[in-house]
Amino acid sequence: MKKPPVAVAIDGPSGAGKSTIAKSLAKELQFIYVDTGALYRSVGYMALRDGINPGDAEAVQALLPRLRMQIRYIDGAQRVLVNGEDVSDKIRTPEVSMAASAVSSLPAVRRFLFDLQRDIAKTNNVIMDGRDIGTVVLPDAQVKIFLTASAEIRAQRRFEELTEKGEMVTYEAVLADMEKRDYDDSHREAAPLKAAEDAVLVDSSSLDLQQTVAVMKAIVEKALG
Ligand code: DC
Repeated sequence: MKKPPVAVAIDGPSGAGKSTIAKSLAKELQFIYVDTGALYRSVGYMALRDGINPGDAEAVQALLPRLRMQIRYIDGAQRVLVNGEDVSDKIRTPEVSMAASAVSSLPAVRRFLFDLQRDIAKTNNVIMDGRDIGTVVLPDAQVKIFLTASAEIRAQRRFEELTEKGEMVTYEAVLADMEKRDYDDSHREAAPLKAAEDAVLVDSSSLDLQQTVAVMKAIVEKALG
């Protein structure tokens, strides 16, 4: 009998390094990396583009039936297509981050994106990162990790990432955005950010990237045997 696919769920607040680490682990394990934040970002982006306030539940809900979301892998990298358009490069701005956080608090949006996330894991070995992967999307994942770091460290890392890309931001503004998103993401009613009871906790505040990858790799290898 064919073995069922393996799932590794990585949850945690923004800027903890989930995506960089998950990508690197996925490569080593030859699993597919699924960045679920990109889906919420794409919905937030489409709302902004349509002139919709991302906090307006009714207007966002009315937009959903007009969005055909697809995930594709091009040269191993995830791309998100909305109505056939690749929006992957347009969803990384601070404005879209805030819009993503707003739309992600809407149960209708979470329901809308649920099947897409689940279906990928039905037929592929995946490393999936997000906020509710171990708790809601893949509660039966063989490995669950909750990756976190202090808000100051996460803001510093995000600040460096954004300035490298030429975004005009200040550290204080990035920290303020991050604290607001942390608060909103963990206090919303629908699938709030929290560690699954059976998740292994990793705090990357005093670890560099390589060290964090090594710690996470050891957890995954131990769990998968
Ligand atoms: O991981 P990210 O920063 O790209 O996520 C963008 C927003 O989407 C974040 O504020 C919370 C939300 N999100 C979520 O609610 N559930 C997920 N599984 C992934 C992201």
